[in-house]
This record gives sequence, structure tokens and C-alpha cells, in this order.
Amino acid sequence: MSVKKYTPSWTKQNTLKSASMFFVHFLILTLILAVLLLWDKLSVLPQYMEKNGANYLYALFCALLLIIILYCYFLFENQEILLNGKSMALVFAVLDVYVIISYLVGSKIGIYARPVAFVALMILTLVGRREAIFLNIISALLMFVVDTFVGTDDGTQIMYYSSLIISFSAGMFAIFFCEKTKTRFGVMGIGIFIVLPIDLIILLLEISSLVNNGQTAVGVMPPFEEVITSMGYGLFGGVMSTVLFLALLPFFERAFNCLTVFRLRELTSSDAKLLKRLKEDAPGTYNHSMMVAQLAEACAAAIGENTDYARAAALYHDVGKIQYPENFTENQGEYNLHDELTPELSADIIRSHAKDGYSTIHTHKLPDFLADVAIQHHGTLPIRYFYAKALKLTDGELNIEDFSYLGPKPHTKIAAIIMIADAAEAVVRATGSRSPEAAEKAIRGIIEERMDLEQFSECDITMGDLTKIRLALVNTLTGVYHHRIKYPNIKYKRNEDGTTKGENV
Ligand SMILES: [Fe+2]
Ligand SMILES: [Fe+2]
Repeated sequence: MSVKKYTPSWTKQNTLKSASMFFVHFLILTLILAVLLLWDKLSVLPQYMEKNGANYLYALFCALLLIIILYCYFLFENQEILLNGKSMALVFAVLDVYVIISYLVGSKIGIYARPVAFVALMILTLVGRREAIFLNIISALLMFVVDTFVGTDDGTQIMYYSSLIISFSAGMFAIFFCEKTKTRFGVMGIGIFIVLPIDLIILLLEISSLVNNGQTAVGVMPPFEEVITSMGYGLFGGVMSTVLFLALLPFFERAFNCLTVFRLRELTSSDAKLLKRLKEDAPGTYNHSMMVAQLAEACAAAIGENTDYARAAALYHDVGKIQYPENFTENQGEYNLHDELTPELSADIIRSHAKDGYSTIHTHKLPDFLADVAIQHHGTLPIRYFYAKALKLTDGELNIEDFSYLGPKPHTKIAAIIMIADAAEAVVRATGSRSPEAAEKAIRGIIEERMDLEQFSECDITMGDLTKIRLALVNTLTGVYHHRIKYPNIKYKRNEDGTTKGENV
């Protein structure tokens, strides 16, 4: 689900800061566990700890070891989590909620009734697949440590091992089968599906314990009833994983300002508050954004990026124009305000829409990702029209930066896609030409100009990606023609000074 971001450089200061923050989150988790485990033993705490203190210390070391391994995983695999305090807090908040619910369900109902796939589903949806796989292992091991060393006395060791296998396998099944699910109904289906490995393990465990215990087990409870009860707990655990996930997801989405497939659907529907306002106050910009969304989706699909993210980013990229819609060509009638202004002032008004978009998105508490694309979609490009107008009016030197956007440059591939698709839509609309040759030439020019101006230097887009984006844009813009693009024949020559020159053949 997540979009690969440009990650700032890793420094010693970052290491120290992230390690200490990680440790603080670990202490909170430990405190939560200590309260849960010792709450009913407060009156006899000294005597209890005298007897069980060593077990608690051992469990604490094991938990610390797991957290250090988790830190190392993020250090080598996803430093973004360590650099972003909000992401780190999100990961630990999911773990905190899981241990609280697991402990309460485990002690009141039974350890097979725990919401074993909760961590996997949450991290998969809010962070990513690889992080979900690793955190599923860590959470399963963490509860195993708690059960084995400091848990209730009701369970047997074999139940704890089974619970470990159940947690691990149910979480993995959820990750592998839930990734493509885009509806809440689909997630409920996954809940039923992950019951299968849970109940299979419980069934095998019950059969083996009956074989081992022989008549003792038969004497305590009818075997069939015992098996059905345990399997019922498994069913409860599987279904509760998805129910809890769906119930708590909106809180996590809003508290940590995350983008999920469910939230993306809400944000891109025509009922979304800000889009409704854009449609009413700046209909020209709204239509342009809808076109850019169509182009951006095609580009994202061509380079393997998330199409839902691309669509949302495109719909909100020009939302800053809501403040003064009549200042922008697509919303103007006969009257053009810029006829009366100096090019400097016009450039200032135009470039403010990137920053305004960023603050509008933040004011409406929408995800950071949308705000980032809004402020990055013009990078540090000059505003060509007003720069050219100023050049005509002066004989002296002009500072191009006075006529340029303030940046930053695109930090993600999707921001780069929006930058290109935005310009492609505007050029094709302005020229009115939809022939494949004209579109190919225009889009090639747009990409080359942005490369010359180093607009892609802060994101990891490749030449291969840019080629695929160009072809996707040409196909989408000229799809109605179904023409094969005729490529011009050019012969390239390498000059002595290292530059390359082309000649029409
Ligand atoms: Fe824009
Ligand atoms: Fe735009």
C-alpha cells in the first residue's frame, strides 16, 4: 500500500534519536504488560515477586531482545519508520493494542480466542507488506514469551507452542490473501479464511492431547465437546481479528494521518468535502484534475506504482487554487486579472497555489502524502509564460528564480508522475492536437525539459520509468485514434566534447 519515499540521509544524530525513541516506546509497552500481569496481584506483590521475579526478569530480557531485533530490521530495511516519529508511534500503538486485547481475551476466554491476525492486518494496511510479515513474527514471539514465563497458570506448555504457531500462520495467511482486498466485505471474508489454519492446528492439538492423555482427557470432558469448544475459540479469534481491524482502522488512519485503500476511496469519491468545494468554486481546475487523475493512473500502472495513490494525488494536486480560482486560466472567463499585473506579481500569485495546496490539505487534516504532492508537483520549474512576458518587457538581466516555483522537487515517483501528467494535460488541452505524433513530441519535450532542469534529482525515478510514463501518456491521450506511433528517424552522433547530437535522416 505504501509509496516509496525519498529518505533523508542517515546520520549519527538520527541513530541516537531514533534508538532513544524506540526505547521509550518499548518502556511504554513493558509498562502496559506489567500493569496487565500484576494488577490483581498488587496486594501480595512483594511475596509474588520473590517467587516469580526471575521469570519476569527473563521475560523482560527476551522482550528487549525482540525489540532490538525489530529496531535492526527497520535500520536495514526501512529507515523511514525510524526517521518519522509518527510511523514509529504507529507501529508501537498497534503492538500495544494487540497485547492489551490478547491478554484480556486470553485470560477471560482462552488463548485460542485471541485476535491473532490483528497486527498483520493493521501493519499491512497502514505500513506495508514486508513490515507486516516481520511484525507478525515479533508479535507472535512476544505473546509466546509472556505466556511461557509470566502468563496465567491455566495453559499448558503445548498450548503456548500451539498458540505461537497459530498466531504466526494466521497472520501470514492474512498478509498473503488480504493485500489485494479493497473492500470491507472482502476483509471479513479473509477473517473466515484465516480460521482454517487456526482450527486445523487446534484440531491436531486436541487429537494429539487425547492420544497422549488417553482416558484422563475423556474423563474430564467429552472429547467431541472439547474439540468443538476450542475450534469455536479459533473461529472467534479469526473473526475478531478482522472485526477489530475494521473497527479500529479509522481511528489509526486519523490519529496517524495514514492513507489506506479504504480512506483513499472516501477521499476520492465525489462526496469528499474538499473536492466538492473544488468542483463548485473552481470547476475548470476540477475538470483538469479529473483528466490528470486519468493520466496519472495510467502512468502509475505502467511503472508498477499504486494507482489509487496516483489518482488521489492527482485529484488534490491543484487544490490550492480554491483560494482564488479566478486567478488561474482554466477558471477564467473574458476577464484576465493578469493583463493588469506585472509579470513578477503574476508569477507570485501563480506559484502560491502549490504552498496554498499544502496548507489547505493540512488544515483539512488530510494525509501528508497528498500535501507533499501538492507542494512538489511544480518542483522548482520556472513559470514559463510570465518569465517570457518579463523578458519581452526588459533589456536588463532577469533572475529566473523570481519567476520559478519554490519547490521542493518531487520526492516520490507519484509526485514525479503528477508533475509530468499535469503538464501533458495542459499542453494537449492548449494545443488542441490529439494526433499521436503531436502528443509524442509534446510529452517528450515536457520530460526532457524537466530532466534538463534537474526536477527528478530527489526521487528514485529511472530512465526506464520515464520511457514507460511517456508511452502511457501518449496511449491515454490519443487512445481514441488507435494509431501506431510513427517515430522520427534520427541518427545520433557523439561529439569530441562528449556531447551527443542528433540529425534527421
Ligand atoms: Fe499546479
Ligand atoms: Fe495542475
